[in-house]
Amino acid sequence: MSIETEADAEGLRQSAAVVRETLDALEHATRPGITTGELDRSAAAIFLARGARSAPADVYNFPGTVLISVNDQVVHGVPGARVIQRGDVVKLDVTVVKDGYVADAARTVVVEGGSSLARRLKACATAAFDAAMRVARAGTPVNAIGRAIDDEVRRQGFTVIRDLEGHGVGRTIHESPRVPNFHDRHQRDVLTEGLVLAVEPIICAGSGEVVEEADQWTIRTRDRSLAAHYEHTIVITRGAPLLLTA
Ligand code: CO
Repeated sequence: MSIETEADAEGLRQSAAVVRETLDALEHATRPGITTGELDRSAAAIFLARGARSAPADVYNFPGTVLISVNDQVVHGVPGARVIQRGDVVKLDVTVVKDGYVADAARTVVVEGGSSLARRLKACATAAFDAAMRVARAGTPVNAIGRAIDDEVRRQGFTVIRDLEGHGVGRTIHESPRVPNFHDRHQRDVLTEGLVLAVEPIICAGSGEVVEEADQWTIRTRDRSLAAHYEHTIVITRGAPLLLTA
C-alpha cells in the first residue's frame, strides 16, 4: 500500500508497535531449553492483549502465530516441540494485522555459545539491510535495494537466497511490488513516496539453494548451511526511509 492519510500512518504505526513488542519479548525468551511452541504461545498472548492477529495464520492458514526457523531452516518454520539449544541461530519472523493494517519484521538471534560464523552471518544480514536503506528513495528503481543487499552480502563472503524476497505490505501480508534481494532484470518498478515495503535480506553461508521440509511450510538450505534473516517494514520518502518496526 501507499500511505494516503494520517489514519493510514497511525494504523501502520500501531501494527508496527505490536511487531516490535513481540520481537523484543521473543528475543529475550529465546534461550536454551525453551521450545519454539512456548515462544509462539507468548507471542499469541501479546497479540491477544493488543487486539492483533497473526497475518500468516489469517491469510495462509499458517499453523502458528509467528514463524520460527532454526539454523539451516531459513523462513516459515512452524513452532512446536523443537527445543532451543546452545549455539542455535534462531530466526523470528512476526507479521501482525491490527485494525486492517499489516506490519512485518524479522530478526536473527544467536543463542549463547554460538559460533563466530553465526555472529558474522547475523551481522551481515543487518549490514545488508542498512546498505539498502542508504539507497531506498522515491524515484529510485526497486532494484537499487536488491543490488545494495547483494553487493554487501557478497563483499562479506555470504550468499543471498534468491528464491526469497521482500514485498509490499500494509493492507495484507504480501503486496506488490516484489523486492528481490539482488538486481533482478524482471523487476522494473520505481519507488514512490509513501510506498510501504517489507525489506528483508535472507542470506546463508552456503550455496543459496533452498528446499521445503516435509511439513510443507519450513524452507531450509539444501546444503544445510546456516541462514540469517533481518527485516523491517519501511515507508519510502524523498529522503531516508521511515523504519516503522525499528
Ligand atoms: Co516479509
